[in-house]
Amino acid sequence: MFTIVEKRILNDSMTLMAVEAPYIAKKAKAGQFIILRVNEFGERIPLTVADYDREKGTITIIYQKVGKTTLMLDQLNVGDAILDFIGPLGKATELEGYKKVAVIGGGAGCAIAYPQAKALHNMGAKVDMIAGFRNKDIIILEDEMKAVSDHLILTTDDGSNGNKGFVTDALRKNIEDGANYDLVIAIGPLVMMRAVCNLTKEYHIKTLISMNPIMIDGTGMCGGCRLTVGGKTKFACVDGPDFDGHEVDFDEAIKRSRTYFDAEKEATHEYNC
Ligand code: FES
Repeated sequence: MFTIVEKRILNDSMTLMAVEAPYIAKKAKAGQFIILRVNEFGERIPLTVADYDREKGTITIIYQKVGKTTLMLDQLNVGDAILDFIGPLGKATELEGYKKVAVIGGGAGCAIAYPQAKALHNMGAKVDMIAGFRNKDIIILEDEMKAVSDHLILTTDDGSNGNKGFVTDALRKNIEDGANYDLVIAIGPLVMMRAVCNLTKEYHIKTLISMNPIMIDGTGMCGGCRLTVGGKTKFACVDGPDFDGHEVDFDEAIKRSRTYFDAEKEATHEYNC
């Protein structure tokens, strides 16, 4: 059992939890994920390692209450325990050798983008962080992102924070103003990551994205997380979750992400009733 040692509400739909998992905390690196099962009746869901503390032996996860499992998880509080918590899974992001990087997060994706920015910042890279949200009320991790970047730009779709626009608008402006990025990292909804990749292709800037498809075993055996990258089948759980965004078949990934939409909606509805 894995005890929850911190629970923090980030906004109406997002929550941060720190969980006691010393063996995972000892090895975790930016870009990796864990798979958890809340209780013996629960399904397995992957969540990215948002942070880790090797001394305290804790792993931080951030989840959005979007379905039955995350609603079940949200019922737990400090002192309660999660039944299964496995990891670190997936490959760590390769961040060595970059000098100037734009790290882009879209909504909940900022929870995954933040550890990437932190790792790059700790390695001495210059980091511009661009974080996009629908409106100012759902902005998360602003202080944390500020602390690990040389420049943080926050955009909102509705302009409620005074900076209306999409992350791609801010990225294009930075590039045209002369930011000489040797890497862009984009993490968020598939349509956002596709838009960033279309933009960076124009400028021939290497772009990494983090894929978060449906996962079951997390060890490359079930095939649930398969994607097409560069014309080849890849498994996000063992080959990723990071991939060269210019090689990913986004149309297929978006279609597959909707496969269980109705079943997920039904399970959430039943859980709420
Ligand atoms: Fe089963 Fe990746 S989760 S192959």
